[in-house]
Amino acid sequence: MLLSYLVPAFLASAMVVAKLVPPGFVTTNGVQFELDGEPFAFVGSNSYNSSELHQTPVETGLTYYQVWEDNDWILNEGSQGFERLDTVLEIAAEFDMRLILTFTNNWVGYGGMELYIDHILPGTSTHDVFYTDEEMIASYQRYVRTIVERYKDSATVFAWEMMNEARCLGDLPSGPDCSAQSRTIPNWYKLQSDYIRSLDPHHLITTGGEGHFNWDNSTLIDDYNFNGEAGEDFDYDLTFENVDFGTYHLYPQSWYPDGNFPLGGGAEGWGLFWIQAHANSAKKVGKPVVLEEFGVTPQSNQTLIYPSWVQLALDTKHGG
Ligand SMILES: *[C@@H]1O[C@H](CO)[C@@H](O)[C@H](O)[C@H]1NC(C)=O
Ligand SMILES: *[C@@H]1O[C@H](CO)[C@@H](O)[C@H](O)[C@H]1NC(C)=O
Ligand SMILES: *[C@@H]1O[C@H](CO)[C@@H](O)[C@H](O)[C@H]1NC(C)=O
Repeated sequence: MLLSYLVPAFLASAMVVAKLVPPGFVTTNGVQFELDGEPFAFVGSNSYNSSELHQTPVETGLTYYQVWEDNDWILNEGSQGFERLDTVLEIAAEFDMRLILTFTNNWVGYGGMELYIDHILPGTSTHDVFYTDEEMIASYQRYVRTIVERYKDSATVFAWEMMNEARCLGDLPSGPDCSAQSRTIPNWYKLQSDYIRSLDPHHLITTGGEGHFNWDNSTLIDDYNFNGEAGEDFDYDLTFENVDFGTYHLYPQSWYPDGNFPLGGGAEGWGLFWIQAHANSAKKVGKPVVLEEFGVTPQSNQTLIYPSWVQLALDTKHGG
């Protein structure tokens, strides 16, 4: 999710805080979120089109935060840039909402990491160079630092999210050496979560990933969602000190376009397996997990399937 508006179900007023954070900051306690020492439950929604960076030339009136000009990134601190994000935070605060802010997107929509590749290493043919190239890392970190320093004292920020749906491949293909086994994305999560923590001791940090596993079960060894090929390793990524909670997504029809859902049970049953697997994994490391996105089509299937998915997420104490 690029920017989520989280509406608290509990408005806590307790004086005792579980961790040493400023009042109003969301924290974790085992698999639960807390706010001012009380359990914090919420529902959220995506604002996927709150733009982050654009190629030149910039259209008049377009909101953007960063643009490539004269071989460098120019940050837009003005009224069509960060001032707009300031306003979003102010309005969210008025309604006691909290925001998860995402720093970039695996996909080209609304900016995204391949714009860094296009400008810094034009002509590069693989997506995963973003995770390892030093100039790319420095550029991303400069953007991250600008935003984190701007809002590090704001209780309206629920968490920082490193990337929407990080994968070895994007709109460009993956390089041959990127996999969960090579730890390309896990290493990037570690590096960037440590970096964010060095700037901001209090806010929660998460991946923004789709929750792909790196399992070696014989029945799932050829399955992209379970065999590490996507690049994430949900179990391992969640062990990092500065990854405070896990995220994952759930789109069975686009992930199994031929309709061959493993493990039986169709799209609904596969979704229930996926939800339970992430709950189990999070419980093992004692951190919360959020089902950030899910979907089936058409609407008749939503009516059919969503109640059981949402129920299992609630029963396993997910955020959603
Ligand atoms: C973002 O998308 C929503 C939903 O489609 C739309 O209502 C809104 O106008 C869009 N905002 C921008 C800035 O494009
Ligand atoms: C596969 O392996 C994972 C990780 O060890 C485990 O959690 C899961 O239950 C196993 N079985 C199946 C059918 O996925
Ligand atoms: C979605 O609904 C259609 C009928 O509208 C049905 O044929 C199909 O199996 C359903 N798909 C899933 C994933 O449940």
